[in-house]
Amino acid sequence: EGKKRASLGEVERIFLPSTTVNNWDQIQKFRFKDDDLLICTYPKSGTTWIQEIVDMIEQKGDVEKCRRSVIHHRHPFIEWARSPQPTGVDQANAMPSPRILKTHLPTQLLPPSFWESTCKIIYVARNPKDCMVSYYHFQRMSQTLPEPGTWEDYFENFMNGKVSCGSWYDHVKGWWKAKDKRQILFLFYEDIKENPRREIQKVMKFMGKNLDETILDIIEQETSFEKMKENPMTNRSTVPKTIMDQSISPFMRKGIVGDWKNHFTVAQNEKFNNDYKKKMEGTSLTFRMEI
Ligand code: PPS
Repeated sequence: EGKKRASLGEVERIFLPSTTVNNWDQIQKFRFKDDDLLICTYPKSGTTWIQEIVDMIEQKGDVEKCRRSVIHHRHPFIEWARSPQPTGVDQANAMPSPRILKTHLPTQLLPPSFWESTCKIIYVARNPKDCMVSYYHFQRMSQTLPEPGTWEDYFENFMNGKVSCGSWYDHVKGWWKAKDKRQILFLFYEDIKENPRREIQKVMKFMGKNLDETILDIIEQETSFEKMKENPMTNRSTVPKTIMDQSISPFMRKGIVGDWKNHFTVAQNEKFNNDYKKKMEGTSLTFRMEI
């Protein structure tokens, strides 16, 4: 296993991949359009899952159309900037409207044009314990992020926001607050897991679509973890090893609620809960750590 060369930079004291920081000018000048749909998440919160659901709705359940290209090319990732590929901004600019876009940025780092537009947003949040576990394994295999260190180190770094895209706590609170100003469908990973059909219908309505039950059956089946793990257009199997080494940990890893119980010690859990209480005090936002 070779040492990674990936590094993080900083914008306004938030860690981001150095390639993103190096392209910050272009990202900040990006122009949102009113008919864009922005998929927004903290990393490892179910981004790929909601992307596939949204595309299946957009394509009216046409499985072949959803296989036109890999998921990370169907929806440009705004802050992606890794040569030799075109940047996320270049990809978005080349895309005909109505566009569906992806970002992991916290509210304060979005390009100014975002706040001038009226584009719709779908935000997916995942409970922080499972999010931390998923991020840890992702960071082990992703060659675009530095080594996560030991689990004990990572646990502290995550709680202190010393990971790419910054603090989970600030991210979810920031977007929860943005709900007052913007049209945001705020979803939870745990809810989609519990009742995918109900959540798919929410997304469908939010997108202003109306699909019949047989199409919803197809969407529900095709977006299951098992199907998406086997689907080369969603499981990142086409991504080169120099970007993701899935022999270390698969991108479609477990897809469950509560895997944190296999990672957190009793002492860590206690420490986490105390810290969580302080950081989340005063918000009406609540998370289910198990279902
Ligand atoms: S990324 O890199 O930030 O875009 O990753 P993201 O897609 O947000 O998160 C990856 C985690 O989501 C799980 N996943 C799913 N869970 C349930 N059902 C479906 N269909 C699904 N698709 C992806 C994926 O397995 C990662 O979670 P973990 O806990 O690591 O398995």
